[in-house]
Amino acid sequence: MCGITAAVGADDAVSTLLTGLQNLEYRGYDSAGVAVANGDGVEVVKREGQVDDLEALLSRRPLVGRVGLGHTRWSTHGAPTNANAHPHTDCYGDLAVVHNGIIENHATLRERLQSAGHTFTSETDTEVVPHLVEEYLDSGASVETAFRLAVDDLSGSYAVALVHEDEEAVYAAREGSPLVFGRGTEAYHLASDVPAFLEFTDDVVYLEDGDVIRVTPSSYEITDTEGSPVERPIESIDWNSEDVEKGAFDHYMRKEIDEQPTAIAQAVRGRTDGGAVALESLPDGAFADVDRVQFVACGTSYHAALYGAQLLRDRGVPARAFLASEYAMTAPPTEAGTVLVGVTQSGETADTLAALRRGASEGLRTLAVTNVVGSTAARECDAAVLIRAGPEIGVAATKTFSSQVATLTLLAERIRRDVRGDHSDSAPALLSALDRLPDDVESVLSETRAPSFARRYDDSDAYFFVGRGTAHPVALEGALKLKEISYEHAEGFPAGELKHGPLALVTPSTPVFAVCTGAHTEKLLGSIEEVSARGAPVVAVAPRSEKSVAEVADDVLWVPETHPELVGLLANVQLQLLSYHTATLLDRPVDKPRNLAKSVTVE
Ligand code: M6R
Repeated sequence: MCGITAAVGADDAVSTLLTGLQNLEYRGYDSAGVAVANGDGVEVVKREGQVDDLEALLSRRPLVGRVGLGHTRWSTHGAPTNANAHPHTDCYGDLAVVHNGIIENHATLRERLQSAGHTFTSETDTEVVPHLVEEYLDSGASVETAFRLAVDDLSGSYAVALVHEDEEAVYAAREGSPLVFGRGTEAYHLASDVPAFLEFTDDVVYLEDGDVIRVTPSSYEITDTEGSPVERPIESIDWNSEDVEKGAFDHYMRKEIDEQPTAIAQAVRGRTDGGAVALESLPDGAFADVDRVQFVACGTSYHAALYGAQLLRDRGVPARAFLASEYAMTAPPTEAGTVLVGVTQSGETADTLAALRRGASEGLRTLAVTNVVGSTAARECDAAVLIRAGPEIGVAATKTFSSQVATLTLLAERIRRDVRGDHSDSAPALLSALDRLPDDVESVLSETRAPSFARRYDDSDAYFFVGRGTAHPVALEGALKLKEISYEHAEGFPAGELKHGPLALVTPSTPVFAVCTGAHTEKLLGSIEEVSARGAPVVAVAPRSEKSVAEVADDVLWVPETHPELVGLLANVQLQLLSYHTATLLDRPVDKPRNLAKSVTVE
């Protein structure tokens, strides 16, 4: 949802900014731009299109300087045009601003500034910022004071950064949108997310709401809204720059599908010692007083949350997953003993944060299950459990779903033990299956027939995915993945619901993928018969022991035998591959699907 970056002190700020923008492009890719303060003024180059298009433009109109800002945009206010691309400038072109977030009072501010004689050149909410700063500078304020006063005037969410022609410095502030500082040896960096500068440094400072930072080539200072210095710890990131490179792969999505054995191993490592689940941030008995669990999440993370809720219910712990955007509107009545779990890869999804804040304001204890240490969810919740998947760049979530499910399996087992006070008889089998899971995923990756299924069905009218129990969220996820990267119509249903309406859509041109975990197989067989009778081709996704499914389905994507609670995770890997190959056959931009961005930081 827009990526901002800044480089201060780099020999060639533009090339550093372009590296950052390429690494942040998952946050938005409909226009991009840079601004450089080079002692002779502020120069801006920006355009509609992707970062590659900006790079081509910069090769014809090079910018030179040691201090600069960059932006890659996911449009909210105003279409993706050259004029609406960031950075935005004041009337004189003395300063430039980039912004991520939404300025809610932009209409009022724009009206006031226009009445005072300011000329706007874009439709964005952001453009009020440079004009506000200009207004304060005109009244005699210093650049720093003008920036602070302008930021004080904003309501909404923002991470905003500014360069001015008079100073070799970047000013930045955050309120509600992520902003991290990177302390490199050659240069200092600012960005919406760590991958922007992983090539240059592992030392990061997560800024907090209300922080204002001034960065020069030789120093940086963080202050609060009043201007008093604040200390923020420098943390060392254990991701490395290869994690954010495509390597030999055509797409990040394909690379990240392949990384799942490692990602799952990292999620499980050190957490299953002695047949019990140990989660570093949660001492033994941490959930002893828990009566029920509510999950809030969006998109793929919501499907992982549905999976986790099912695992808890199967252990006798009342649990329910809510779409975060709905929960934030109408949270269910608060009950003591409820723990609210936000499942979010990025830890920055605005809907999920709003739901967590809503729950916290009702007195609920909150827990973040996230991939990003230092993210807003991790910092705001009472505790955080990391899924340890490593950076995910492809807009389509793949390895993080698997890591979320593995982590939620551990969490479910752990909550059950704390609530009941004993180990379940089935825990050792589940935990050893979790240890074997990376090898099982490896088998799926090496033996999959998904490419031939993608070719067989690539001119279908629609694709349906069905399942029961933990296979239901997998069906939903299979459909989401296919629709977001191939643009084909796909829907997921609980298998039992087909006969209550969706069956009307089933024809010989609508393949149905039936996910079978080994539980509820007879009922799933009934659903397969129903669609087969209407002429739909049926592909089961099932472990080899499910011979009866193979008899009624037209074909099968097999997965290795494992604990029934983990079959869904393996089936999902087959469906990821099906989506990926369908999308590449249709020549879709797999890593940057139209209209989407990876991190959705607006509600
Ligand atoms: O960062 P989060 O997990 O909170 O993101 C939630 C959704 O926006 C995300 O899962 C989205 O649905 C996926 N990119 C889809 O592949």
